Amino acid sequence: MDKLRICGGRPLEGEVVIAGAKNAALPDLCAALLTAEPLTLANVPRLQDVATMLKLLAHMGVRIERGDAQPDVVTLDASRITAPEAPYDLVKTMRASVLVLGPLLARCGAARVSLPGGCAIGSRPVDQHIKGLQAMGAEIAVEHGYIVARAPAGGLRGARITTDMITVTGTENFLMAAALARGETVLENAAQEPEVVDLAELLIAMGAKIDGHGTSRIRIQGVDALHAPRAPHRIIPDRIETGTFLCAVGAAGGHARLRGARADHLDAVIDKLREAGVSVDAGDGVIDVRMSGRPRPVSFRTSEYPAFPTDMQAQMMVLGCIADGTSRVSETIFENRFMHVNELARLGAKIEVDGHTAVVHGVPRLSGATVMATDLRASASLVIAGLVADGETVVDRIYHLDRGYDRMEVKLRALGADIERVKA
Ligand code: EPZ
Repeated sequence: MDKLRICGGRPLEGEVVIAGAKNAALPDLCAALLTAEPLTLANVPRLQDVATMLKLLAHMGVRIERGDAQPDVVTLDASRITAPEAPYDLVKTMRASVLVLGPLLARCGAARVSLPGGCAIGSRPVDQHIKGLQAMGAEIAVEHGYIVARAPAGGLRGARITTDMITVTGTENFLMAAALARGETVLENAAQEPEVVDLAELLIAMGAKIDGHGTSRIRIQGVDALHAPRAPHRIIPDRIETGTFLCAVGAAGGHARLRGARADHLDAVIDKLREAGVSVDAGDGVIDVRMSGRPRPVSFRTSEYPAFPTDMQAQMMVLGCIADGTSRVSETIFENRFMHVNELARLGAKIEVDGHTAVVHGVPRLSGATVMATDLRASASLVIAGLVADGETVVDRIYHLDRGYDRMEVKLRALGADIERVKA
């Protein structure tokens, strides 16, 4: 397993280009299943999770072209879906595979998708996905670890869906299923994340009739068929990669410009960084960030968009680790998303966890050590901590990092960090 070796203590200076959003690319790739016409997406990030999704779609019979000259442009031809199924060996490595369920039901009338199983940050069931699709007439059984679903003879029908809690990929599954259903579907407590909006805009460009996306109530009028948009759909920039680099400068100090970033997707994160004393200036497609000295302590709680995103909790916590005071961090989305805490403690952080709240007592210095990544965003926080810690930090199991960040060490080295990948 690859590792990252970091020598901390150097400020970051320079420019970074932000990649396309992982959590928009994954549903957008699945939208290709909804039409027999080739769909082209631009700004597709080069990530392990994207590679896994492309492998899953190819397994179903989707023909995929990825330009050598333009690796961020992908064309998917789902004119022949030979196997409407998502096997366990692929789904177990990426829970977002459940996003094929809605489009397969809508396009093929049947789907067999492995249950994702839990993951490090929580049990993460998909019961709400099943509940919503059943409301649209699907017959769904769970047997031998698989979701076996079948649409009614006339196809899915529009329904009013109120999930027990806001679910991002649940909302995305419902959008894709409802786009081809008969009649109107109303999602009453829909997710409002920018990635949901990006999918809705792609579906509209394909001929879907959707309004209210970006709010908690989305209405979809089903249509008979969807088509490829006239122009390639460009995926929005990754707000979590952007936030991760903002936190890296906030912790390590220095001055960086993030190109291709959208500050309007990160209001809650930028507000907290400014509260911590980080200077953040948003321009047109560029964010300028600078920091010197210790951050001020900042308390925050994660919640659904537009509030502070759970995917930024671990990274922001690192600023609290070196702040001149105490911060309180509350994680309200997942039941086990503090696994970075024990690893940060190995670097000298002083953090007490009590249920869903972590109390972070800032210390003047962290000291380098060997630490182990446990999940995607926890690994990002350990890299940021390594940039700050005195001496050498080795982050192990960085396959977690590669799922959601495109060669993070290359981008950090371009900012002056002393970081290298050690091949296993
Ligand atoms: C999406 O996961 C993101 N992944 C996650 O990003 C992100 O952390 C999460 O939304 C919350 O913002 C993708 O978009 C591919 P949820 P998702 O359904 O859709 C519970 C990253 O690091 N729930 O919004 O799986 C669930 O357990 C990843 O990029 C049910 O109980 O999350 C959680 O507690 C990590 N039953 C809460 O709802 C269901 O059927 C929110 O989950 C669905 C969800």
